[in-house]
Formats: sequence, C-alpha cells, structure tokens
Amino acid sequence: MDGLRWLTAGESHGTQLTAILDGCPAGLALSAADVDAQLARRQMGYGRGPRQSIERDRVGIVGGVRHGRTTGAPIALVIPNRDAANWGDVLAVEAAANAAPGDAAPSASGDAGGSAASGSDFGAGARPVTVPRPGHADLGGALLYEHEDMRDVIERASARETAARVACGAVARRLLAEVGCSVASHVVAIGDVESRVTVSPENVGRVDDDPVRCLDGGAATRMRAAIDAAAEAGDTLGGVVEAVAFGFPPGVGSYVQADRRLTARLAAAAMSVPAMKGVEIGLGFAGARLPGSQVHDPLAWDDARGYHRTSNRAGGVEGGMSTGEPIVLRAAMKPISTLRNPLRTVELGTHRATESRYERADVCAVPAAGIVLEAVVCLALADALLGRFGGATAADVVDAVAAFRARCARR
Ligand SMILES: Cc1cc2nc3c(=O)[nH]c(=O)nc-3n(C[C@H](O)[C@H](O)[C@H](O)COP(=O)(O)O)c2cc1C
Repeated sequence: MDGLRWLTAGESHGTQLTAILDGCPAGLALSAADVDAQLARRQMGYGRGPRQSIERDRVGIVGGVRHGRTTGAPIALVIPNRDAANWGDVLAVEAAANAAPGDAAPSASGDAGGSAASGSDFGAGARPVTVPRPGHADLGGALLYEHEDMRDVIERASARETAARVACGAVARRLLAEVGCSVASHVVAIGDVESRVTVSPENVGRVDDDPVRCLDGGAATRMRAAIDAAAEAGDTLGGVVEAVAFGFPPGVGSYVQADRRLTARLAAAAMSVPAMKGVEIGLGFAGARLPGSQVHDPLAWDDARGYHRTSNRAGGVEGGMSTGEPIVLRAAMKPISTLRNPLRTVELGTHRATESRYERADVCAVPAAGIVLEAVVCLALADALLGRFGGATAADVVDAVAAFRARCARR
C-alpha cells in the first residue's frame, strides 16, 4: 500500500468544503461523530471572530464508509458552509446575469472577509475586490492567476480550508489510535507570554478545558489579557503551538532518501498550515546553541521498554526515523493579517495608495491552529505508517506493527 493521499476543494463562503482521502485501509471503525468532534475543537478558542458561532461545522461522509467501517475506497467528506446562504450570488457558479452591486449582504468574518454591502472592499455583493490586504495571498494570487477581482483569491486562501483538513486528519487519527498512537497539542506561547508546563499523557486531557488551550494556568491568564489588549489596540497576536504524538512506533520514515525522512514530512505538514512561519522538532533552534553533550539522548535498554532514550531532546525522530519516544513538534504562527488598524496598501490596477479595510476577524487563532497542526501531523504520521506497515485492512496494519514491535524487543 502506498500511504495516504488527500485533497480538499471549496471556497470559504461557497456551498461546502469537500475532501477526498485516498489509501485508508478497509475495516477501520469511523463515524461522523469522530470527525465532528475534531471540527468542534477547531472552532474553539479565545480570540476568535464571530464566524465560529455562525458555522457549527458538521461533516457528511459521502463515500468510502459503510455501516460504520471504511471499505478501502476513497473516503469523501463534505462540510456545508452554513454561512453560504448569506452570500447570495457572490460565488455563483454560472455567469451572472446583470448582478447589481450590493445584491448580497455577506455577514461572515475571518480571513475571507465579508461585511455589509455598503462599500466594503471584501464582501460587497458583486463589487470586485481590488484592494489587496497586506499579509494575505490577495496580491500574489491576483498576479499569479491574473484575477481582476481578488474575491477569487480570498475565498480559497482563507483558513476556512483547514476545516476540511481537520476532517481528513480525524480519519488519520482513528487509524493511529488502532496502533496505540494519540496526537495532542497545546499552546506554548501567545505573543511574548510563554507557558512553562510540558504536555504529558497525564495532563493532556486538560488542554481543551482552557480557552487558550494552555496548560500553565498563570500563563493562560496572561495570554487572555494579551489577546484582550491586542483587540483593544486594534492589533492581532501570533504564537507557538506544540503537537505531541504519543505511542508512535519506532522505525517509521527512513534515512535512505530525502523525501522519506520523517523529519522532512512533519516539517512540510506543519508549514502547510496557513500563517505558520517556523517549525522545530525536539529542542529545535535551542539545540543549536548548546554543546552536543546537552543535546543528544543517551540510549538504554530494560526489560519493560527494550531500547529507549533516557531523554527526548531529539523530539522522537533521529536519522529521519521515529525513535519510539514521543514526537514533539512546535510551529510558530504569525499574527493574524487582518488588523482593525489599517495597513498601507495599493489598489490593483490604479496603483492608488490606500489603506486595507478592516473585516471582522480573529484577533488570535493560535489555540485553533493547534487543532489544525494536530490534523496535519496525524495525516503525515498515518501516511508514513502506511508506507511502512500498510495493508489492505486496518487489521493488517495493527498486526504488522505488533509483529515489528515484538521483533524489536528480541533484538
Ligand atoms: C485556524 C486559523 C484561523 C485563521 N483566521 C484568520 C482570520 O480570522 N483572519 C486573518 O486575517 N487570518 C486568519 N488566519 C491566517 C491566514 O489564513 C493567513 O495568515 C493568511 O492566509 C496568509 O498566511 P501565509 O502567509 O502563511 O500564507 C487564520 C489561520 C488559521 C490557521
């Protein structure tokens, strides 16, 4: 078996998001509730805009699953955009017949913009979007695809797409659970406020209880205050999220080819999330400032654990392969690009200097980005797992992992 493949389609305010996940083995228990639970987690978090309360995402599983089990066929997932009804003909598939400016009255928010029809550059009915927003894909997308109306860019570049990836990730998460692997995340920094608590199997269940998904109570309070202050000042905040995979088997990935290195696949997955500007595995950048004696993990063996490391500064990957220790990956998210205090910009075509228009948006999406990071890590790990232990059925994968673990214990 070749691993997992997935693609998503759909616009932020179109009728639905669509995802196809190909390569999932047959016989895996899967329900819409498994996916919906992850979609709900993506919508949480202190500092989110009003769209999250409009949406309440629910998946439709429209292929590849029958009677609660995957069939081995491609899994097709759809997530209706509940806000689409407010967008009238703005995203109509057929050519407009004399659509009048202001026909639609979009009401949503987020990085796809949207506001009342009265003169907004981002959501005004049939009126073209001609003012690119700094920090967004608007200008680059308009130049690349030669769009006159940047609505064509905004709708697809929006982080709304990450809902479809979270849905795919939920399926990957179900597969990983079969081999005893779970993936969690927590917020380690928002702005300059840092958490001092590390995540473990014992405390991981508490993360979602906190509105900023931070395990350090004092830091969480200061993070909320920082988000409030940024909102008050018309500004936005970024931060750092950490994903941890517990129970992932050793020996997945490889050193023999660049594109098979698990490190590279995880880093690519993390950097595929919108707004991510840096990634670290294990000690990451901090390790570069330390001598080797304080970086490399000593090896040991005992009856209970077999080969193991006495520390996990490598973050669960060495030589491009998983070590069997928890996989620890951090991603740095830039502050939300849509600011209430306008940024300087230039109108497309006229070159007129102007200011970006504000659309209601998240002030800080770092807590939600942790859920997206979990999803892409689940997909990358499940893909690599299937490449190593793949079979036609989930039972094949479980048996192959168990047999490999037993062989490792005898070495
Ligand atoms: C979960 C999540 C929610 C986001 N919400 C917003 C938002 O409400 N407003 C905004 O301007 N950007 C938001 N973003 C970030 C933009 O999608 C991103 O900054 C933009 O697409 C450009 O990012 P890039 O330079 O990495 O491509 C969000 C990102 C994520 C991961």
